[in-house]
Amino acid sequence: MLISGSGSNLQAILDARANDPDFPAQPVLVVSDRPGAGGLLRATAAGISAEVVDWSDSPDRESFTAAICDLLDAHKVELVVLAGFMRILSQEAVRRFPNAIVNIHPALLPAFPGARAVEEALAYGVKTTGVTVHFVDEHVDNGPIIAQEPVTVMAADTVETLHRRIQTIEHRLYPKCVAAAATGRLRVQGRSVIWDER
Ligand code: GAR
Repeated sequence: MLISGSGSNLQAILDARANDPDFPAQPVLVVSDRPGAGGLLRATAAGISAEVVDWSDSPDRESFTAAICDLLDAHKVELVVLAGFMRILSQEAVRRFPNAIVNIHPALLPAFPGARAVEEALAYGVKTTGVTVHFVDEHVDNGPIIAQEPVTVMAADTVETLHRRIQTIEHRLYPKCVAAAATGRLRVQGRSVIWDER
């Protein structure tokens, strides 16, 4: 799993696994692009290897991506889960893990891609925003959509209150999508993701 921040989505996946002996994905490695990310502590508390590939130590995006991919390979990672990871990987990541990188985004893509989705949705005045889980392809916040859920924007919402409600959905939706991806229940056909409803 790749993180940059507090790792509440990482925690939701760890909890899903802890609460369900049949949860099909086994987290093996958490990588952060910055040393202070709270998610690193969550990983070590759960007995999972936690590593930092510091973005600011990397000369360019290519070497940053290669260092992360090498770590993932060394841990025999089969599914790469971006959980609040705020860096853009180079195309090498998609080449090395084709249809095996998933991301969660706090808006209904293709609306409001990028790092400030909640703020931009609120500023735009949309009445509904939401959560998107998608496969990562070579473009930012663009790959085939695995699942989406709407969140109603309230008149009194701030970025914080809206993000909190979005995260409640994220924490329920992401473990379900990760489990489906880990068991090969998601088939990508062009831009569509077909769920095998086993
Ligand atoms: C999540 O809300 C996730 O959707 C968002 O960052 C937050 C990370 O929270 N990701 C993006 O904005 C990606 N463009 P977390 O560290 O508590 O899981």
